[in-house]
Amino acid sequence: MRTIDIITKKREKEELTKEEIIFFVEGFAKGEIPDYQASAWAMAVLLNGMTPRETTELTLAISATGDTLDLSDVVDIAIDKHSSGGVGDKTTLVVLPVVAACGLPVGKMSGRGLGFSGGTLDKLESIPGFRIDLTTEEFKQQLRDVGMVLSGQSADLAPADGKLYALRDVTGTVPSIPLIASSIMSKKIAAGAQAIVLDVKLGLGAFMNTLEDARELAHQMVAIGELAGRKTVALLSDMNQPLGHAVGNALEVIEAIDALHGGGPDDFREHCLHVAAEMLVLGERAENMNIARKMAEDAIADGSGFAKFRELVIAQDGDVSYVDHPEKLPKAKLIETVPSPHSGSLLEVHARYIGEAAVELGAGRAQKGDPIDHAVGFVIHHKVGDKIEAGEPLFTIHANNAELLAQARKEVLAAHRFSDAPVPPLPLFYM
Ligand code: URA
Repeated sequence: MRTIDIITKKREKEELTKEEIIFFVEGFAKGEIPDYQASAWAMAVLLNGMTPRETTELTLAISATGDTLDLSDVVDIAIDKHSSGGVGDKTTLVVLPVVAACGLPVGKMSGRGLGFSGGTLDKLESIPGFRIDLTTEEFKQQLRDVGMVLSGQSADLAPADGKLYALRDVTGTVPSIPLIASSIMSKKIAAGAQAIVLDVKLGLGAFMNTLEDARELAHQMVAIGELAGRKTVALLSDMNQPLGHAVGNALEVIEAIDALHGGGPDDFREHCLHVAAEMLVLGERAENMNIARKMAEDAIADGSGFAKFRELVIAQDGDVSYVDHPEKLPKAKLIETVPSPHSGSLLEVHARYIGEAAVELGAGRAQKGDPIDHAVGFVIHHKVGDKIEAGEPLFTIHANNAELLAQARKEVLAAHRFSDAPVPPLPLFYM
């Protein structure tokens, strides 16, 4: 078999066989197929797509390039959740302790921020000492003992995905539905998930900008999950505006802790309760969504969700005094609240512009491996549809550099658009 023939076949919109896909993925993972050929292939896939069968074969081939985790000796059902990425999405920090407190053990491998979208690992590292580099043995032991783990992904799981993703990132081939679907699902399958709740984001601050594309991505991932024998559900949720108010690592941890105490912004709390309820139903701890939702609400109201978050932090060597006293978390030197320049209804709070401004402030990385500043970010005070008077606080900037603060002020102001006419609020989820 020759790589050039596989590239040409995809260029000519033909369907690849299972053997061709395995040859390509294995050859690329081993370094036998060079990056320039893999880039050409990825571009052909981006332009010409893949059939559902090809996407499933690709997913299974990628997950087979490394170890696969078997959690069947630890939990009765290995449940996982995945968000396709967004701005202000700190859902995992609330949902996981809540479902674990409801008796559904959950071990999750999370990622770092990617472009303008934040990552759970970066948020957790705002807590001094918190370790994300658990060994497989530590991961399993903690899942057994604590019922909850949040760690980084081991390099041995689906290594071809990491390699292909890095290449896609620099060759303009990220926004391809089959490539995104296989990337996400290969990691979930390799990490041993038997039941998966997918939170597919759509809108201005998501990979998928339209409902149609998000629905197609969700559909493909659910189909892959089912073909691979995993129970999979997908939610479609809004990412036109940031989720909750906080954007930036320590600020988001503070907001998540507030939510675990029963506070926090309404949209964020509602989002967390819904995702938690889906997990409890899929993980067979609740018969239906009403019962599951009540269980999740109770875990917040009785403090057991927060107690589980504390247990997690202690188990992973984090200093729990920062969770008990979130005011101790990294704080920026410069904090400025910017007033609204207009009166009217909020028409848009552009999630991507805000995510990009947060990266420029230091909350994310321009290049892989760059250090990040856990203290910086924004608190966005309003949601689309809110009525605002000129002079009311619009957003608060947390910065460690005056020049960057001035730049962020401009960018975040530009992310807010107003209307004289009333504007309906955005939905949280789409059907
Ligand atoms: N998240 C992933 O893990 N992979 C993609 O391709 C896009 C988002």
